[in-house]
Amino acid sequence: MRIKWFWNKISIKLLIAIIISFSISLFIAYIILYNLNRFHLLTSNRLSVDQYNLIVNALTAVVILSFIISFLLIIRKKIKYLKLITNSVQNIANGKLGSTIVIKGSDELGQLSRNINLMSKELENKFEHERQIENAKNELITNISHDLRTPLTSIIGYLDLLRKKEYKNEEQLTDYVKTIYSKSQELKSLINELFEYTKLTSPDVKLNLTAIDLGGLLEQIIGEYIPIFEKEGLCFQKSIPDEDLLVTMDVEEMVRVYDNLFMNAKKYSAKPTFIKINLDSDGKNAFFTISNQVADFQVEDVNQLFERFYRGDRARKEDGGSGLGLAISKRIVEIHGGKLTVDYKEGWLTFTIEHSLKE
Ligand SMILES: Nc1ncnc2c1ncn2[C@@H]1O[C@H](COP(=O)(O)OP(=O)(O)O)[C@@H](O)[C@H]1O
Ligand SMILES: [Mg+2]
Repeated sequence: MRIKWFWNKISIKLLIAIIISFSISLFIAYIILYNLNRFHLLTSNRLSVDQYNLIVNALTAVVILSFIISFLLIIRKKIKYLKLITNSVQNIANGKLGSTIVIKGSDELGQLSRNINLMSKELENKFEHERQIENAKNELITNISHDLRTPLTSIIGYLDLLRKKEYKNEEQLTDYVKTIYSKSQELKSLINELFEYTKLTSPDVKLNLTAIDLGGLLEQIIGEYIPIFEKEGLCFQKSIPDEDLLVTMDVEEMVRVYDNLFMNAKKYSAKPTFIKINLDSDGKNAFFTISNQVADFQVEDVNQLFERFYRGDRARKEDGGSGLGLAISKRIVEIHGGKLTVDYKEGWLTFTIEHSLKE
């Protein structure tokens, strides 16, 4: 291993090239001297001092020249490879991200090419990622504008009627004001959810983590929802183990997720029915599920529910939710390292949250 490393060093290769070139030039000098001697050119007295000097100088020049030529011939492949690397880096710098260099040898130049290839791929991935974020942002802005405009248009419309005193009686006036109020509330919650969503999708979102018993937390949330659900003709059928299931979470954020799942069950469940709540663990993970019955569920792919701004017909007509609730919930669960999934079977819609238990 060490021997291979030694021979793969470019300095060693250069040193060898120098030794070989030097030997070649010495050999050439030897041949010339040998031939000059054969004809007694240097030892005879036929040469003047100048001629003698000329021969010695010419010999030196031949030695230096042959050294340079043989050295360049030996290292020409490396120089060609270095040029290739330079051109490839130039191409990458000009925007041809993802392009790679053929790796030749395992010396420093080979390693350099390998690292440049890695860098090029990494840059390409980063750019692609940025592009996707940019597209998602643009799409989000388009959707937002549409969703903000709808309640705002009706607020403006009703305010215009009030301004022009275009109402028949006190009752109609109250009706208009009620509508304006509820549309403003809708706008407010939409803006809040939007703010929440953008905050959560930023890469440096911070969680305020604490360890908490999930069973206890759920009991508390269910307790708060019982009267609200009863009013809608819904009741709970729950199974929560007595043992402590410790989970590390940002309680405020996770409660937001549970709230959305409970409120969705309340809003979109068939009535009167019951809501099934289950908490389980396999020793490593805790599994929370909430299931409700749905009348005429006509979604091709249940995962569509997690899409931003996806709203079922009922949500569109009656409640006016933002359609961001589940997208936000999924994101919150994921930044906790958990999973939020949905499943539809025989009239029941089930949402599952998988949390890893604290060790
Ligand atoms: N428990 C559920 N039962 C039936 N449909 C649901 C349920 N939860 C969500 N949905 C459907 O998914 C859509 C998206 O939900 P969500 O993202 O929370 O937005 P919102 O509640 O603002 O409509 C809802 O409009 C509804 O059509
Ligand atoms: Mg919701």
